[in-house]
Amino acid sequence: MFNKRIKIKELLQQEPAEQQVTVMGWVRTFRNNQFIALNDGSTNTNLQVVATLGMFDESLLKRITTSASLKITGTVVPSVGKGQKLEVKADTIEILGDSDAEAYPLQPKKHSLEFLREKAHLRFRTNTFGAVFRVRHALAFAVHRFFNDKGFVYLHTPIVTASDAEGAGEMFRVTTLPFENTPRNEDGSVNFKEDFFGKSTNLTVSGQLEGELGATAFGEIYTFGPTFRAENSNTARHLAEFWMIEPEMAFYDLEDNANLAEEFIKYIIRYVLENNREDLDFLAQRLADEEKQLPQDKRSEMGLIEKLEFVLNNDFQRLSYTEAIDILKESNHNKKKKFQYPVTGWGMDLQSEHERYLVEKHFKKPVILMNYPASIKAFYMRINEDGKTVAAMDILAPGIGEIVGGSQREERLDVLLEKMEKMGIPEEELWWYLDTRRFGTVPHSGFGLGFERMIQFVTGMSNIRDVIAFPRTPKSAEF
Ligand code: 4AD
Ligand code: MG
Repeated sequence: MFNKRIKIKELLQQEPAEQQVTVMGWVRTFRNNQFIALNDGSTNTNLQVVATLGMFDESLLKRITTSASLKITGTVVPSVGKGQKLEVKADTIEILGDSDAEAYPLQPKKHSLEFLREKAHLRFRTNTFGAVFRVRHALAFAVHRFFNDKGFVYLHTPIVTASDAEGAGEMFRVTTLPFENTPRNEDGSVNFKEDFFGKSTNLTVSGQLEGELGATAFGEIYTFGPTFRAENSNTARHLAEFWMIEPEMAFYDLEDNANLAEEFIKYIIRYVLENNREDLDFLAQRLADEEKQLPQDKRSEMGLIEKLEFVLNNDFQRLSYTEAIDILKESNHNKKKKFQYPVTGWGMDLQSEHERYLVEKHFKKPVILMNYPASIKAFYMRINEDGKTVAAMDILAPGIGEIVGGSQREERLDVLLEKMEKMGIPEEELWWYLDTRRFGTVPHSGFGLGFERMIQFVTGMSNIRDVIAFPRTPKSAEF
């Protein structure tokens, strides 16, 4: 058997009792022809391996270069050096893969995040990305655990679909039709009957509509999958391909929905605080160092860990869209014309600068904004008694802005049909969706959490491209 190794994380948790071990990993540094800092990705803490002077051939030692991969068998001994309680005294060193130190793009020094984005195929081997992606994994695991423990069914909704759930028209087309001699109808439009699926299809912008079908049978479901949006927004919060978690629950109204979302966010934060403390401490330090470069007024008031604990220990601020508009309008910020988009009044869509003002300057904690004007929200949201607003909720997080969008759904067939007609959404295309309202309709609600925005919040990474392995953004799909 080849792989009978102990992971470095596990080894470092043991007492330094003498024992034989096999470790494998990649060289981070090699000092004095003697001390190998070995990393196997299980933790940012390297294992110190000692190659006793004179024990190994010079030709072998030459091949111990940055990022070479090694298999080492040796004896665990208490460490005399500072910073580690144990080290491994090598008996055998096998080079699994050489690494040309001259050609290897990552040097044992600090690289900028921009530089590392261009080396995304290797950036997992850095401390920052090691920590970010272990935290990402833990958050994903916590998501499943949260819903599983509550009895939700994980539903895999389709990636290829014919519907535009959000109605924003930001879809990537899926087609096998040729670009040359595209089959056309008499009026010149493309004849999608000739296409693979016999109709116009796209990558999903949300699994919600199919999620509702699941919720009206299982009661409670969630989806967790890739989501695609062809928005041409080159910002630090937008990806063309991102992951979304979308729970959908029968017998939930807007308040139940908000309660679940708040409980969910707190649960997954608590999970990583309890299980990934080493990585979070590393990321907290990284953020603190980065912020030292900023002018005082641009720095966060709290450290990363303090911020996460604050979120756990405080209720999210709940308020209506209408109240939010009043706050924004009356703010000195608005009066002094400091918003790029002035707050004109009720009915306007909130820009991220407005959302961030509310969470970062006014309330200084996560905010759940509810009951938005119907005109700025999707067709499926339930109309409130006032006839003007819908039972929508967005959750806004400090430093990020919107992380959750959700609502109570319009379960009344006649009201929904009327709204779809007004918004120009053809009934024929959504016949299957409408059937849930025909056969045992129930009050129901759901929301979508942008997974990468959540990871940004937890890790303190300011650019969304640094929390997904291989970001897809306008004009960029490398790797
Ligand atoms: O607010 P959105 O558009 O809501 C929906 O898609 C609903 N169908 C969800 C539901 O009720 N089931 O998107 C939900 C969240 C946003 O709050 C944001 O966190 C994230 O998805 N998101 C993006 N994340 C990264 N890049 C993008 N381009 C994103 N667009 C939305
Ligand atoms: Mg939204």
